Amino acid sequence: MSSIILIGFMGSGKTSLGIRLSYRLRRTMTDTDYYIEQKEGRSIAEIFAKEGEEAFRRLETECLKRLIREGGEQIISTGGGLALREENRRLLRRLGVTVYLRARPETIYERLKNDTSRPLIQTRDPEKSIRELLKERAPVYEAAAERIVDVDGRDFETVLEEIVSFGILEEGEGADEDTCD
Ligand code: S3P
Repeated sequence: MSSIILIGFMGSGKTSLGIRLSYRLRRTMTDTDYYIEQKEGRSIAEIFAKEGEEAFRRLETECLKRLIREGGEQIISTGGGLALREENRRLLRRLGVTVYLRARPETIYERLKNDTSRPLIQTRDPEKSIRELLKERAPVYEAAAERIVDVDGRDFETVLEEIVSFGILEEGEGADEDTCD
């Protein structure tokens, strides 16, 4: 069993790339943030506000355990903090091949400067928060990943093809788009 798991900082493109990869390789996709929001029936911002970050982190671990139980080969995009827990990194190794989407703080800031959905960067100085958090997290992402892909200044298509070229998963046998069966 080997899924492709995308890790990396907020705004590095994990969800957008995950969706494209799932079409390209004809696999189902799970986005851990979306999964948690659906299961809990509220947004991540609400979970953080009402129960705190630790509670959210526990939900992330539960989500990974669930994915392991379900088995199969799929595309999994993760929340930016998921790979920071040692237990989660162990679970990720069981799930498949982890790919780190590496982005510079400037790239992240450009993408997220108007975002209001991510509690950890709703600070007085989001640019500084991004720089500091990324500095702390980058070594962990690098150590957790089997593959590293730089995303700065590159479009989705290029990054996608690089990941496909790793050959982690062959193109699956989903429904043919040209037929109606
Ligand atoms: C977080 C990243 C978010 C989300 C939550 C916490 C983090 O996901 O899980 O806000 O700790 O970096 P994205 O990386 O999809 O933004």
